[in-house]
Amino acid sequence: MCELYSKQDTLALRGKHIGPSCKVFFAADPIKIVRAQRQYMFDEKGQQYLDCINNVAHVGHCHPEVVRAALTQMEMLNTNSRFLHDNIVEYAKRLSATLPEKLSVCYFTNSGSEANDLALRLARQFRGHQDVITLDHAYHGHLSSLIEISPYKFRKGKDVKKEFVHVAPTPDTYRGKYREDHADPASAYADEVRKIIEAAHNRGRKIAAFIAESMQSCGGQIIPPAGYFQKVAEYVHRAGGVFIADEVQVGFGRVGKYFWSFQVHGEDFVPDIVTMGKPMGNGHPMACVVTTKEIAEAFSNSGMEYFNTYGGNPVSCAVGLAVLDIIEHEDLQSNASRVGNYLMELLHKQKAKHTLIGDIRGIGLFIGIDLVKDHEERTPATAEAQHIIYKMKGKRVLLSADGPHRNVLKIKPPMCFTKDDAKFMVDQLDETLTVLEEAMGAQTERMISENSPCKTKMPEEAHVELLSGSTTDSTENPSRKRNGPCPNKHALFSKRLKT
Ligand SMILES: Cc1ncc(COP(=O)(O)O)c(C=O)c1O
Repeated sequence: MCELYSKQDTLALRGKHIGPSCKVFFAADPIKIVRAQRQYMFDEKGQQYLDCINNVAHVGHCHPEVVRAALTQMEMLNTNSRFLHDNIVEYAKRLSATLPEKLSVCYFTNSGSEANDLALRLARQFRGHQDVITLDHAYHGHLSSLIEISPYKFRKGKDVKKEFVHVAPTPDTYRGKYREDHADPASAYADEVRKIIEAAHNRGRKIAAFIAESMQSCGGQIIPPAGYFQKVAEYVHRAGGVFIADEVQVGFGRVGKYFWSFQVHGEDFVPDIVTMGKPMGNGHPMACVVTTKEIAEAFSNSGMEYFNTYGGNPVSCAVGLAVLDIIEHEDLQSNASRVGNYLMELLHKQKAKHTLIGDIRGIGLFIGIDLVKDHEERTPATAEAQHIIYKMKGKRVLLSADGPHRNVLKIKPPMCFTKDDAKFMVDQLDETLTVLEEAMGAQTERMISENSPCKTKMPEEAHVELLSGSTTDSTENPSRKRNGPCPNKHALFSKRLKT
């Protein structure tokens, strides 16, 4: 039996018993999902949806080997990590083997938030420093300690930025402060971090950590320019701080060629702490912090014991081992490269065809489509993005829109995504964009012929489906105005990382 209640009753019960701040996808018309397999999800009527956004179901929804591993271990034993057990050490050994040698000490947790919170504790304990540098628009988790360092959240709520938090500009070469037309955006963005450190020192503050996702996801699928992390790490280390790479969204082979996204930046860059979660347990709550022996010893020397009731339990580790095996046996990293490259090719063709597409960026199966109202100013097409994800849902394709302006279509599907899935998704997107652009064009033409000011309006049907609060706050990204439009569209990828 897949359902206890009718969809309407589920919705009503949710409204009554689940906190109102827990939002659903497609709030205006939510979907009830009752089962899933591989990259497909099924609603209560048996309708199939192509899942283009679920990076948690990394090796595919309900992978039978993951299910079997959990079941077998659950029938045997599940307990905490105070007892000796082989699963935790085997998993730690296998995980360490995927990382550079110095990252060899693991702490297991149940969520990415717990992992990042612990990473902050490790960093602060290391040299007794307190301050954290974070990137603008970053999200690192839902705990109080992480909302404090997540501008994505604290800028939206009533929270104020704490004095120990320093926000550096996102190294976004499409709509950030320094763009692809800049001679050396990596150095320019890193220099911003250096200046933040100097200003903090002048106020007597000390830097404990710089934290960043290896590729920023909620922040709008941003891929930092080559060389940025190396330079930042140098400045942060000089200040006595550590570099925390948040791989909660982007780890475990999503970029294809490498197992960890930070590795895209070159062998000469190794973070001091790496946090991971979502894909690690394929939906089973499992997360981890990996660090160096030196940092782990400093944490231990504080005298405080670290205990986590569920972190690293035998069932979680059995699940984690199954996930590692599947990534290897099904060659999912090669699949991510192959399908990701194909998808990028298809999307670039769409970019040439559709004026709404301003930028396509991505590596492996981590791709963003930045929608714009105009190519000169790169004005985010926020309402259009919301319209598109609803239309795509109607075509049974699940996409989401994120970033500070909620105009970036995010693609981060299960790693078993195929070329056929990619083609299907892009065909549906093509149709949706064609209809929308025609409607927008017709509207613009009508307004011009009526001698009104030339301002493109949304077609009527798009308005119907817009989510509340989707208007663009132009104050959110003043750098766009400061830097002006990019004169050379074709140079777009020239300073991005090559994979
Ligand atoms: C980059 C990043 N870090 C940390 C977290 C927090 O992970 P969790 O929701 O498992 O606590 C998230 C969740 O979306 C995330 O995107």
